[in-house]
Amino acid sequence: MQTRCATAVACPNIAFIKYWGNRDDDLRLPANGSISMNLAGLETITTVTFDPKLKDDEFIFDGVPQTGPALARVSTHLDRLRNRAGSALKARVESRNNFPQGAGIASSASGFAALTAAGSAALGMTLSERELSLLARRESGSASRSIPAGFVEWYAADSDEESFAESIAPPEHWALLDVIAILDSRPKSVGSAEGNRLARTSHLQPVRVADAPRRLEICRRAVMDRDFTLLAEIVEEDTRRMHEVMRTSTPPLNYLLPATEELMRAIPDWRAHGLPAAFSIDAGPNVHCLCPEESAAEVERRLRENTAVRQILRARPGGGARIL
Ligand code: DP6
Repeated sequence: MQTRCATAVACPNIAFIKYWGNRDDDLRLPANGSISMNLAGLETITTVTFDPKLKDDEFIFDGVPQTGPALARVSTHLDRLRNRAGSALKARVESRNNFPQGAGIASSASGFAALTAAGSAALGMTLSERELSLLARRESGSASRSIPAGFVEWYAADSDEESFAESIAPPEHWALLDVIAILDSRPKSVGSAEGNRLARTSHLQPVRVADAPRRLEICRRAVMDRDFTLLAEIVEEDTRRMHEVMRTSTPPLNYLLPATEELMRAIPDWRAHGLPAAFSIDAGPNVHCLCPEESAAEVERRLRENTAVRQILRARPGGGARIL
């Protein structure tokens, strides 16, 4: 038997309408649908080599062999791909991010999207974008959205086959920028998988989930019409609702730093005074400041005035996962 190898690249994404909480934790069926934009220029590159000589799976991240939970998660996902292909071969997975590790940019999305694409190709499977998205979802919810290109919607559903993500507009549809203000690059104390399980303990989660179709509808319209004002309002509302759920979970989760909260007050104020910008914040303290391309320089200048901002990254709408 020969070794079989493939390399894939995928971008992370920023959710405009957030995924937080599952209706089924095992299948990772989300409580609500979500909409996101892929982040161009930030990439995970992953090579998967199935090798008859290997006794166990290996996972090398940024040149460093991984053990424990990081390796176990990759191995669990490889099992899913092997089951599907009817293979028992172990694999070496070599993965690299071109963005600072632990910068608070969700690398599980790009990581599991790239692993799904490279792993299935290395096993000789030709899967549709929908099948790749379904498979990626099983190991990381947001990874389902890093498979298709551009502006993406992930559907909530009661069955495995119906909960996939697809593109609602290509990257070139809208010259929107995500200007990311990095406040803290330490790994978070409670990971997203654990946080997603806690969501159902908040009395606000049912309210947030019940209202999701309305927010999705407004967000879809804002994207299709390139209506920045509408997008800004709904994205900020959605971020606030998710962080309210986090704060009222048992135990409570608070990912925000004082500087995050300062920027959550400042950015809507900039907008009220004529600078189009909107914040979005994931399970961490960093601030994603969305804006039309022409406002990016001024947005970046103002973000830098905040002394807690350590680094700034910029991303345009990105493409989908692809085999190199
Ligand atoms: C706050 O997709 O990182 O970024 O499924 O355990 O990998 P896992 O969780 P993950 O959760 C992301 C949550 C979020 C919001 C979002 O991206 O929609």
